[in-house]
Amino acid sequence: MNIQELASTAQAMVAEGKGILAADESTGTIKKRLASINLESTEENRRAYRDLLFTTSGVEEYISGVILFDETIRQKSLDGTPFPELLKAKGIIPGIKPDKGAKPMAGFPGEKITEGLDGLRERLEEYRNLGAGFAKWRAVITIGDGIPTNTCINANAHALARYAALCQEVGLVPIVEPEVLMDGDHTIERCEEVTTITLQQLFTTLLEYRVVLEGTILKPNMVISGKDCPRQADAKEIAEATVRCFKNTVPNTVPGIVFLSGGQSPEEATENLNAMNAMGEKFPWELSFSYGRALQEPVLNTWKGDPANVQAAQKVHHHRAKLNGAARYGKYSKEMEKAG
Ligand code: 13P
Repeated sequence: MNIQELASTAQAMVAEGKGILAADESTGTIKKRLASINLESTEENRRAYRDLLFTTSGVEEYISGVILFDETIRQKSLDGTPFPELLKAKGIIPGIKPDKGAKPMAGFPGEKITEGLDGLRERLEEYRNLGAGFAKWRAVITIGDGIPTNTCINANAHALARYAALCQEVGLVPIVEPEVLMDGDHTIERCEEVTTITLQQLFTTLLEYRVVLEGTILKPNMVISGKDCPRQADAKEIAEATVRCFKNTVPNTVPGIVFLSGGQSPEEATENLNAMNAMGEKFPWELSFSYGRALQEPVLNTWKGDPANVQAAQKVHHHRAKLNGAARYGKYSKEMEKAG
C-alpha cells in the first residue's frame, strides 16, 4: 500500500474551493430521476445525461471528483472518449460506487445492511484499471421507534471497514458513507445522538481493520431535524450541532469530510455547508460537499431530456457548482442564487 499516494489523492479530493459530484445513481435510482422529467431510462439517455454533466465547461474549477456507477465508468462521450479519460483530462478524479446497495437486514425490521463485499477485491482492481482514483460505499442508518439498533450500526461499520481496507490495498481512496437518514419526525438532538454513536463505532472499526485514515474521506449526513419534525433547525443550529458531533468523533488525521445532501433542497445544502465554513474556526478536516440531488436537481429540470436545452442545463450546473465552491470558503450568500 502506498500511503503517500492515497493521502495525496484524498487531499486532491478536498482541494480548496472544490467538492465532489455524486453521479453514481444505480440503474433503479437513475430511472426515478429521469422519470421525474418524463424521460425513459435507456442506456443512451443515461449516457447523454452524464455526458452533459461531465462536459460542462469550467466546472472543474469547483469539482475535484465525480463518483460513477458501474455502467457509467464504461461509457464514452460522443467523440468516443471514455468518461474516466474525459474527466481526467479536465483534472477531475473519477470515482466508483462498488457497493451493491442497502438491503433489508434479516431479523431487524426497518433496518438496512449494505451488500457487495463478495468479489469486491477483483471488482476494485478492475475499476482501478478503468481509471478510478477513489470509491464510495453507502451504509444507511434509519431513525425510528427503537431503531437504530447497535447490531445494525456495528454490521454496517464492519462492512465499511472491510470495504475501506480492500480499497486501500489496490490504491483507491475509500469514501466511507454512513448516512443517517433525515426521514421521520425526530428532532435535531436525536439526529446528533444517532450520528455521534454511528461515527464513533465507524472510526473504532476502521482503526481495528487497519484502515489508514490519512487516505480516507468521510461522507456523512449533516446533523439536521427529521423531515417531518415540527421544529426545523436553522442553518446556524445545524452548523453548530454538526461541527460539535465531528469534534467528538472524527479523528484529526481524516483529511476531509464531504457531505451528502440526503433530500435537502439545493439551496439548503449550500447554505448549511456555508454556515459551517463561515464559523470562523480552523477545523482539522476540510468541510466539503459530495452532493447528488443538490447538484443535479436544477440541471435535470432545465435539461428535460431535450438536446436543445443542453447548453442552458450546463449553465445551471456550472452555477450550482460555483455556489457550492463559494460555500467551501464560507462566502456564499442567497443573493448569489440570482446571478446565474
Ligand atoms: P445525495 O446528495 O442525493 O444524498 O446523494 C449523495 C450520494 O452519493 C448518496 O450515496
